[in-house]
Amino acid sequence: MLPRTFDEIATRVDNYVVAVDAAGRVVACAALEEYSPSLGEVSSVAVAPSRHGRGLGSQVVLGVERLARARDIEELFALSLTDNFFLSLAYEPTTIARYPEKLARYDTLSKSGVEIVPKRCFQKALGKTWDAPQLMVQSPPGQKKIAV
Ligand SMILES: CC(C)(COP(=O)(O)OP(=O)(O)OC[C@H]1O[C@@H](n2cnc3c(N)ncnc32)[C@H](O)[C@@H]1OP(=O)(O)O)[C@@H](O)C(=O)NCCC(=O)NCCS
Repeated sequence: MLPRTFDEIATRVDNYVVAVDAAGRVVACAALEEYSPSLGEVSSVAVAPSRHGRGLGSQVVLGVERLARARDIEELFALSLTDNFFLSLAYEPTTIARYPEKLARYDTLSKSGVEIVPKRCFQKALGKTWDAPQLMVQSPPGQKKIAV
């Protein structure tokens, strides 16, 4: 994940979807990065290690998809080291070469000294309609989560 400064997050806070715990602490986040009126990236996906495997990563990505639809974005892409996560959300493998805008950003970052780790690329075409995501009830670690 690329480093972000406080100011970078503050100026883009409307693009973030977060999950918070009962104490109001952020335990999962994802962000929408807009590249054009029709193209966006699902970025900054992270879940607190103690909350992995409970559906929170999926929920914040679905939240970014809702945000993208509300902004009339038609296609999302995502870069990840984790294959199964985006595949489980109906993203399809593709090549980053489809997104010269992203390659140009990587080029700029690389020239400024940021190390770019190669990742796999996934994409999803957003329809005009969407199924409401299933809500998950919290279950103790090790138990199967339950859709309600
Ligand atoms: C990747 C990450 C966001 C997943 O969040 P999560 O809340 O644990 O994921 P979910 O519970 O919603 O899992 C959904 C599906 O993704 C897949 N998945 C989740 N984490 C995975 C991992 N580390 N490796 C492979 N597949 C994974 C599983 O297939 C899972 O389906 P299942 O519930 O049937 O097992 C989280 O592990 C994380 O923050 N990792 C560190 C940061 C990171 O890698 N960020 C980049 C992600 S693009």
